[in-house]
Amino acid sequence: MAALNLKKSLVAGDYVMTAEDFTQIAATLKERTGIVLTEGKIALAYSRLAKRLRLLGLRSFEDYCAMLNSPDGSEELQEMLAALTTNVSRFYREPHHFETLQKVFASGIAQRARTGERIRLWSAGCSNGQEPYSMAMALLAAMPDAASFDIKILATDIDPNVVADGRKGVYRTDLLAPAPEVLRNKYFQPFDEHRLVVKESLAQLITFNVLNLIGPWPMKHKFDFIFCRNVAIYFDEQAQERLWARFAQATKAGAYLCIGHSERVTGPGERYFETAGLTTYVRGPL
Ligand SMILES: C[S@@+](CC[C@H](N)C(=O)[O-])C[C@H]1O[C@@H](n2cnc3c(N)ncnc32)[C@H](O)[C@@H]1O
Repeated sequence: MAALNLKKSLVAGDYVMTAEDFTQIAATLKERTGIVLTEGKIALAYSRLAKRLRLLGLRSFEDYCAMLNSPDGSEELQEMLAALTTNVSRFYREPHHFETLQKVFASGIAQRARTGERIRLWSAGCSNGQEPYSMAMALLAAMPDAASFDIKILATDIDPNVVADGRKGVYRTDLLAPAPEVLRNKYFQPFDEHRLVVKESLAQLITFNVLNLIGPWPMKHKFDFIFCRNVAIYFDEQAQERLWARFAQATKAGAYLCIGHSERVTGPGERYFETAGLTTYVRGPL
């Protein structure tokens, strides 16, 4: 990793985070997740991790780094990764992707499913579930009886906390506002005064799992639709290129890949994915 041009020590609030501490934390994050923590994110890293130090009763970031490297550090490492990832998501974020999903299902995939083909979708970097639930609603809008066929959405994220939230499927009512009214009324019900909970008819299509996108992928089947949005943007170029190439291997010919608004498929994977609209690609033959 390039040497950081930081002042020798940064004093902010209760703790001191030195350039060495930050460099070590950033290197660990990159090695484990592919995420690049630039110098500009030091204040963010400080504020998110200071909470961990307080909770653990540690006195300095030096002690924190030592703890991460100790034999008992693996649990805290997971907490650190969770604290440093950005989990922002929204229902029907970039709605054109859900319109595409609905159209592609209505015009072809639904028919293939009806003839017995296994259809798999993947929300890779699903955060707290708003993306895969939106995918499931778009899918059911095109094919209301989808649950009677071999159709599943895999929803994965590196952060176990957001995966657990996704499984619960409880959201503030206002967060559901971008979803089409008819679909949110059909597939969500009141949980309490301010929140809605997903109904089984929607939840049954989705399997939530913890998965690190830069680690091994245990899935053997090929996907028909992948959403991987606003995830690779945090990776360095090499990790991004590797991810696109792996998506090419993990998809059927004719499958769709939807990525974030400021992302672009680059590197060896590029030759397998043809542009099919805004931040949307179709996988050609291998
Ligand atoms: C900004 S959110 C995007 C959520 C959703 N895809 C969307 O666009 O609304 C990025 C998500 O990617 C996850 N993430 C980051 N690095 C990851 C990795 N190496 N493997 C799996 N998930 C990762 C984060 O935990 C976070 O939940």
